[in-house]
Amino acid sequence: MKGTTPAGARDEHEAAVWVRGMFGRVAHRYDLANHLLSFNIDRFWRARTVARVRHVLERPGARVLDMCCGTGDLVLALDRYAASPVMGSDFCHPMLVAARRKIGRRHGRAALFEADALQLPLAPAVLDLVTVAFGFRNLANYEKGLLEMRRVLRPGGIVAILEFSQPPNPAFRALYGFYSRCILPRLGGALSGSRDAYTYLPESVRKFPGAAELAAGMRKAGFTSVRYELLTGGIVALHLGEAC
Ligand SMILES: C[S@@+](CC[C@H](N)C(=O)[O-])C[C@H]1O[C@@H](n2cnc3c(N)ncnc32)[C@H](O)[C@@H]1O
Repeated sequence: MKGTTPAGARDEHEAAVWVRGMFGRVAHRYDLANHLLSFNIDRFWRARTVARVRHVLERPGARVLDMCCGTGDLVLALDRYAASPVMGSDFCHPMLVAARRKIGRRHGRAALFEADALQLPLAPAVLDLVTVAFGFRNLANYEKGLLEMRRVLRPGGIVAILEFSQPPNPAFRALYGFYSRCILPRLGGALSGSRDAYTYLPESVRKFPGAAELAAGMRKAGFTSVRYELLTGGIVALHLGEAC
């Protein structure tokens, strides 16, 4: 497991700079493109994530961070069930501005801060739950990302990673591959005004480790009780683990 490798990026720093710039360019149309291109199924994926961690959210005083929070959809979904306000972080300022506006409109309580997920400005062992939805794949170094999540979680704390994956059924994988390679870049480009973002998306999914490999990486980073479920035929995988 290495990290994302956008075309032209020569090292981790350049990869992170490219990813931040790309999300900055699409931030204003991100929600529209996201919901349309996923036929709104992304709402179900986030709802499933919340359902799996609800026992932690409902604990009074539980400290929860949604990293790579983007425009805040998972932050808002978590906040609905959380006994205490949740936190959201991202390293892309325009995404956080969009999240702040949306959370305000919906009277959410979440606190947001700007930070690189590979270097969170948090002390060790302070969180009960860390979630990340469709952000992990974009990290410049997956091993560092897992170790950073492990660092900020208390023993017994939970990590939940919702990310695109590869459908195991060959026929469905081929169909999904056609959609993501041929249709998604055109539609996403037209909706967001940034074709390169939606060319990067299927490429980054194709290069991302499969669900079993990610689970193995989580165990190597020190998580126990690692398990995953495939959603929507394996287009997406939800991984869960416990810090020890
Ligand atoms: C595909 S969006 C997902 C946003 C949101 N979690 C959702 O479910 O819609 C990925 C987000 O991850 C953020 N991101 C990528 N790499 C990051 C890093 N190293 N540190 C912090 N945020 C990062 C991007 O800025 C972007 O907002």
